[in-house]
This record gives sequence, C-alpha cells and structure tokens, in this order.
Amino acid sequence: MNVKALEIMLGTRRVGVLFQYPLSHDHTVNRFVADDDFASDPQQEILSLSYKAGDPQAQAAFWRAIGSAQFNGSLSSDAKRGWLLPAFFQNLLPEGPLRTRIAQMRGCDPEDQFELLAATGKDLPGDVHAMPAELSRDALARIITQNNDALEMSVVAAPMEDAISVSGVQAKLAVLKAGGRFVASTKLTDEHQVRHVIAKLPVANYPHLPELEDLSLRLARAAGVRVVDAELAPLELLAAEHHYDLGDVDGQTRFLAVFRYDRDADTATGRVHCEDFAQIMGVQPEAKYTLDYLTVAAVMQTVPSLGEAAVHELLRRILVSDLMGNPDMHLKNIGLRYPDAMTPELPPAYDIVAYSAYGFVKSGRALHLMPPAPGVHNAFKPLSPVVVRDFCGRLGMPEKPAWSTLRRCAEQAFDTWPALIAQADITELMKARILERMARFRPGK
Ligand SMILES: Nc1ncnc2c1ncn2[C@@H]1O[C@H](COP(=O)(O)OP(=O)(O)OP(=O)(O)O)[C@@H](O)[C@H]1O
Ligand SMILES: [Mg+2]
Repeated sequence: MNVKALEIMLGTRRVGVLFQYPLSHDHTVNRFVADDDFASDPQQEILSLSYKAGDPQAQAAFWRAIGSAQFNGSLSSDAKRGWLLPAFFQNLLPEGPLRTRIAQMRGCDPEDQFELLAATGKDLPGDVHAMPAELSRDALARIITQNNDALEMSVVAAPMEDAISVSGVQAKLAVLKAGGRFVASTKLTDEHQVRHVIAKLPVANYPHLPELEDLSLRLARAAGVRVVDAELAPLELLAAEHHYDLGDVDGQTRFLAVFRYDRDADTATGRVHCEDFAQIMGVQPEAKYTLDYLTVAAVMQTVPSLGEAAVHELLRRILVSDLMGNPDMHLKNIGLRYPDAMTPELPPAYDIVAYSAYGFVKSGRALHLMPPAPGVHNAFKPLSPVVVRDFCGRLGMPEKPAWSTLRRCAEQAFDTWPALIAQADITELMKARILERMARFRPGK
C-alpha cells in the first residue's frame, strides 16, 4: 500500500503530518495526525479554531482522536472531485482558474487535491506550510492503523517555487508590489520594500469589475466597515506571466491590487496565520454557502478577543452587502487571523462587490441570517429592529448597541455613497443600478 505524506508546519514549528493512502479501490484516506509534542503542549498555537478544545487535557484527547471527521477528508458531492482533504486543508487549495493553472504547471490532475497541496505547500494562505515527508516504518505504523503490514512510502515532489495558493473563483495572481511594479515573487532577489498583493484581474463577462470592486470597498469603508487596502493599477505594471483570457484589454486596463493581511508581518516567517469560516466551521469549500450568519456570530461571541465588537462588525458587513447588492459574503469571505499565533482577531473585510451594478441581483444573501425553522421558507428580511432583536436575542446579546451600530452605518452609507458612486470609473448604467438598489433600503421605504 502506497502512502504519501506531507509534514505540516505552522510558522517554524512542525505540528503534524497529512497523509494519503488508498484504503480500497473507492476509498482514499486523507488524514491529519498531530505530533505528540504539539498535541500535548498547553501553550500550543492555533492551527484552526475548529481544532480547539476547552482545556489542555481535552485538547490532547481531541488531537488523539485521529478517526474523527475534522481530521479526515470526505467524499465530494461532485463525483469528479473524489475524496477531499480534511476541510481545514481542502480550504487552503487554489480554486477556479488559478487551480487549473497550477495543475498545468505541476502536470497533475486539477482534482488531485493532495498533489495540489504539495505543489503550493511553500506559499499557502496564512502561516501553514506543507513539505514532503519521509516517514520511518515505525512512524507510519503509528499513524496508520488499518492494513499496515504492507506500507510503502511514495515520494512526493517538492513544492514549486512559483505556485502560490489563494482560494476564490475569480481570475487572480499572487504577486509582490516592488518599486511601483507588480512582479512574480520568484523574479525578486531583494525582498525589502515589497508588499504582498492579490491581483484581481479584469473578467471578460463582467465589464469594469476591478473598478467596481474598488468602489465597493470604498463604499463599505465610508459606511464604517474596516476593509483591506487596495488600489487600481494598469495591467502594464503587472510584470507576471498569466494565461488568463482577460477579454478585450490593453496596458491601460486596470486590475485591483489587494494588499494581503497574512503577509509582510514581523514574525519568523514574515506571515500571519489566518483561516476562513469554512475552515473554522469544518465545512468543505463546496459547502461555503451553507450555515448562517448567526452561527458565525455565535463563534465570534465565544472568543473573548472578538466578542460583541466583532459581531457588530459582522452586522455592518451584512448591512453594507444588503445595501449595495453583494450576494457573495459566504463562509470563505469572512475570516479570522492570529497575529500573535494565539489570539483571534477579525481581519479587514475583503471581496465585497456591488453585483447589483450588473442588474441581475434581486435581494439575496450568500447565507441565511438565521437558521430557517423546519419547513419554513427563509425569505430575505432586511435588518429591521424586529429582525435585529431576534438575532441578538438568540445570541443573548444586548440589542440596543447592535441597532445603533447599524443605524449609524446606514446613515453614513446614505450620506456618502451617492458622491462616491458618481465619481467611480464605471458606466452610468452601473451607477444607476447601485443607486436604485440602495434606494430600496432608504428609511420609510
Ligand atoms: N487582503 C487579503 N489578505 C489575505 N487574504 C486575502 C485577502 N483578500 C482575500 N484573501 C483570501 O483570498 C481568497 C480569495 O480572495 P477573494 O475572496 O477576493 O477572491 P474571489 O475569487 O473574488 O472569491 P469568490 O470565490 O468568493 O468570488 C479569500 O477567500 C481569502 O481567503
Ligand atoms: Mg472570495
């Protein structure tokens, strides 16, 4: 039986091994096993909130339960995808056109999840690293409990220097901004004075998408949401090869450079660990539209460093998405980060886009606000005082501060958005549609 293994590092510390072996012709095991040294450390760093137990004893027992669902991949609902990695790891993988591109560079099947993690293991989101592991027979026998008489290691190739994993379905590149240009990291010899950037490229079917996303981030900021730093830049400054079909573009056509909050840090690796709510909830990327914002808020509420302030920020982001018609704030578009490796913090908001500008968004949200009662259709309800009372009531949280947060946010939006929209570099029709969308929420409507 052939076993492939990757050692998983969190920062500079090895925390365990992710391995793969075929259990039978239609069952592939993808399993993470934590190292004893990490599992029994009472001061251990956070790999994922989904892997957190209440106290050191419970934590050590949690890591030892290697058969549990959190540590094992599930079978995808899409037959062509096969067996997925454990949800935390599957969510680290590139998606969309970037996945196709990396699979091509690696010469592997785009659905070979394990190989894609191995290919991008040097540059994954957050501060996790995956490197080929050579395990001794003893180490193998310890982590593989079934049919372990005929185990043999297969060699996993080293990660590729220029393969960077970022999730999300839009065409994008991970690059460095250096001296006013945006370059592939491998081309850079001097790493000073650079900033890590996700370059979100123009998309043929969505005219002016980078300009629209830039506007949307500015709208959200004007309404009081903390948002990522981003800037529009002409494609002629992007000195990185890509193979995307960008439609009818020239050197002046712009892309959106989004500065990363998990890089350029004052840590041993220069990275800050982070994860998204699909990882935190133990949900596979393909189920990123499941669950609801109340569940996300409930997690925030149980973490002392997040608490009510984070829930208020979440509510602001929901309101802003409602007002501009952003139906895409799914579990992977909300995250947490761990600047000191231990304490969760809500990073700035990203991937906020007023899709109403394209005229096809009705009134949807990516997730339900609250879980639907059995058999009841969960229709879209704006964040009214009654709805906010219900939401806060279910969290056992005071409703008044939440409501004043939202009222202030809406006031700021109605005060500032028309001017920002008027100045934006998008078409008049796009502007009119966003204004029409927000007018539906004007008090008294
Ligand atoms: N500023 C940032 N710093 C660090 N990570 C980021 C940042 N912005 C986005 N990300 C990560 O990159 C992923 C992809 O980015 P983004 O959501 O903007 O792309 P997308 O392709 O538009 O996504 P979607 O599939 O939701 O449409 C996010 O899910 C998040 O994990
Ligand atoms: Mg996204």
